[in-house]
Amino acid sequence: MLKTEVINVEKIREDFPILKRQVHGKRLVYLDNAATTQKPKAVIDALVDYYSRYNSNVHRSVHTLGEEATAAYEAARGKAAKFVGARAKDLAFVRGTTEATNLVRFAWGEKNVKKGDTLVTTLMEHHSNIVPWQLLAKGKGATLKFVGLQPDGTLDMGSFESLLREAPKLVAVTHCSNVLGTINDVATICAKARKAGAITVVDGAQSVPHMPVDIGAIGCDFFGFSGHKMLGPTGIGALVGRSDLLEEMEPFHGGGEMIKEVFLDHSTWNDVPHKFEAGTVNIADAIGLGAAVDYLTAIGMDKVREHEVRLIAYALQSLREVKGFRAYGPEDPEKKGGVISFNLADVHPHDLATILDEEGIAIRSGHHCAQPLMRWLDVESTSRASFHVYNSYDDVDALKAGLLKAGAIFKI
Ligand SMILES: Cc1ncc(COP(=O)(O)O)c(C=O)c1O
Repeated sequence: MLKTEVINVEKIREDFPILKRQVHGKRLVYLDNAATTQKPKAVIDALVDYYSRYNSNVHRSVHTLGEEATAAYEAARGKAAKFVGARAKDLAFVRGTTEATNLVRFAWGEKNVKKGDTLVTTLMEHHSNIVPWQLLAKGKGATLKFVGLQPDGTLDMGSFESLLREAPKLVAVTHCSNVLGTINDVATICAKARKAGAITVVDGAQSVPHMPVDIGAIGCDFFGFSGHKMLGPTGIGALVGRSDLLEEMEPFHGGGEMIKEVFLDHSTWNDVPHKFEAGTVNIADAIGLGAAVDYLTAIGMDKVREHEVRLIAYALQSLREVKGFRAYGPEDPEKKGGVISFNLADVHPHDLATILDEEGIAIRSGHHCAQPLMRWLDVESTSRASFHVYNSYDDVDALKAGLLKAGAIFKI
């Protein structure tokens, strides 16, 4: 297979200081990007610049530092919103996808979900798109139901259609599975769900970092994503919501800055999105996320996607030559995000990850916060290699060599 490149990986790698380090005396081969990505110097510099030049609280002070910090924080909101085809005023900064989902659970769910209602999610979700809905259903006397999967790891649309006949209040679905890599047709799912009267929540944790995303075209009501999976800092992410829903929703947290006026017996709320950003916000990391957006935009998300499609195609073809290798999820790289979950015969994924670590290769092993999916796959855990812009064909070759070594150790 041709090792053609759509982006200059060698040049990109120079932007990531951590990729210069060695692990156990070997070149670091970082293949744990679905868990979190490495950060380019531009992002690290944005954090240092904020703390060294204009560290100050936002939306409060009229002094120069306060004005500069507010401008940079709001500029970051604008960048993050534009990146996903949304308006800045419809984007609230949160800690990440998990908090985005929990915000919807509390601020929308508490008011709107009633006893006897049905909520729908799918069998391929990360726990962060299951547990909040379980808690909401339990508290309200509602029922949480799951869309099933087809043998190839795609959603069973027949099962989805039959759940829609129960007129669910909410449909929550991932855009891209962090285990199978399956890219779901969220635009179709949201259109059908809306027709059935449901509110839609899309988990964009594994799509926004890897492919062009246009929330307007998806047509969902809520969409969450995490900065740290898209070259940005940890502790920052976003919830984008339909503006009329955001307006009528209750606040998530109460405290400073989310209010307009406070009286002894009641309070009124600040404008959206500030209504959802109580207390001192994560200023530095929001600015860092803005820098990550600039970095990815300069590369071009269509190129990021094409790079990963080619890497996945190469990796699937190459790793299948390793005896005992078994991958899960769709086989067509065009239908898959930049992630391959696999097992090597009956080698325990933790043993495999430890052997690979000795070679400087970082992969994830475990249930990937998707235990219902593990049960459906009938495995306890899997290994997972996941890619981003700085991964090369050489990284795939290193992984293959590591798997062959493990295969020899375990006499596969
Ligand atoms: C598909 C998916 N959804 C949600 C999350 C949760 O993201 P965070 O931990 O950044 O809140 C993850 C993280 O791995 C994920 O992969």
